[in-house]
Amino acid sequence: MDFLNVSDGRLVSLEVALGERSYPIYIGAGLIEGLSQVAAAALRGKQCFVISDDRVSGLYRQAITRDFEQADLALHWLSVAPGESSKSQAAYAALCEAILAKRPERRDLVIALGGGVVGDLAGFVAATLLRGLDFIQVPTTLLAQVDSSVGGKTGINSQQGKNLIGAFYQPKLVLIDTASLNSLSPRARRAGYAEILKYGLIHDADFFAFLEREGEAVLNLEPEALNRAIATSCRIKAEIVAADEREAGRRALLNLGHTFGHALEALAGYDGRLLHGEAVAIGIQAAYRLSRTMGLVSEPELARVVAHIRALGLPLETPRFLTANTSADALLNAMTQDKKVSDGKLHFVLPRGIGAALVTAEVPAEALRSVIDWLSA
Ligand code: GLY
Repeated sequence: MDFLNVSDGRLVSLEVALGERSYPIYIGAGLIEGLSQVAAAALRGKQCFVISDDRVSGLYRQAITRDFEQADLALHWLSVAPGESSKSQAAYAALCEAILAKRPERRDLVIALGGGVVGDLAGFVAATLLRGLDFIQVPTTLLAQVDSSVGGKTGINSQQGKNLIGAFYQPKLVLIDTASLNSLSPRARRAGYAEILKYGLIHDADFFAFLEREGEAVLNLEPEALNRAIATSCRIKAEIVAADEREAGRRALLNLGHTFGHALEALAGYDGRLLHGEAVAIGIQAAYRLSRTMGLVSEPELARVVAHIRALGLPLETPRFLTANTSADALLNAMTQDKKVSDGKLHFVLPRGIGAALVTAEVPAEALRSVIDWLSA
């Protein structure tokens, strides 16, 4: 896409290599300003459906609507309430009905504009309507830019747990406008950073060392550090997804900290008191503690990870409001609701030092118990 313009001259492009379903990821500041051109190039049909949330709509709707009008592109704007509660069957059904009322065709284009909730929800709408509309991801949070917009996981929540209803459905492209991060609160940026940290810990010790030096600069959105952190995260994710799209093996490494984290989030009730990335940061530390107990990680390695989590201002332990009401058994029970159960066994991503990890169900009961006790104390 030759016409892509960025405000600071730094445009990065990567590829998720999946044969005929391969797609590009573009990273740069100001890319949303050219969204109508991107949509025009990607659109095979006649209509575009932006799915966003009310916060992000407030920031972009006017400008994007004007931009699409000038480009003479048919645009329908659909917006849900911000937050995890919108990854619901009710919100999904309402979006499907609203789009179906416009008589869409398979070649029409769904544009997911927002954070992880919007991307997962819009992606699932696109995956299932007419058995698949084209779709592109335009992630506007750090978490979505480095993780959820890449790799084709789409879905919504069930009363039984998070992301239990979904599909693997790849976008046609991912457009990452780093300028969109300026509107995020420092807390939301920190939460997204937990997923960046994950890539260093599972795959790339040098990247972790870079984050130790430059993590603060990433959180302050300093362009050089930020672009490198986003591009490296997306490159690692693209590589892992290309090797294992449907999580038969290696992709599960991307769930470092998530089995513990999802359980904490479920118990906290998705009401904003504990953000996904905050739960993941606590879960990453829990995974390191588990690996430490099993001799896979040394004391200095554990200390290094904890020091980085502390330095970046991510939570170091389960918040009081949760430990006050959560028993170790309740936590263990919440973990078994996760998707990472197979053959009736919970699977864990265990770090091996820094920069490598493995997935196993073979975790000694007493080692697990000591980590659960730490998490719920
Ligand atoms: N967020 C983990 C994955 O996409 O596999």
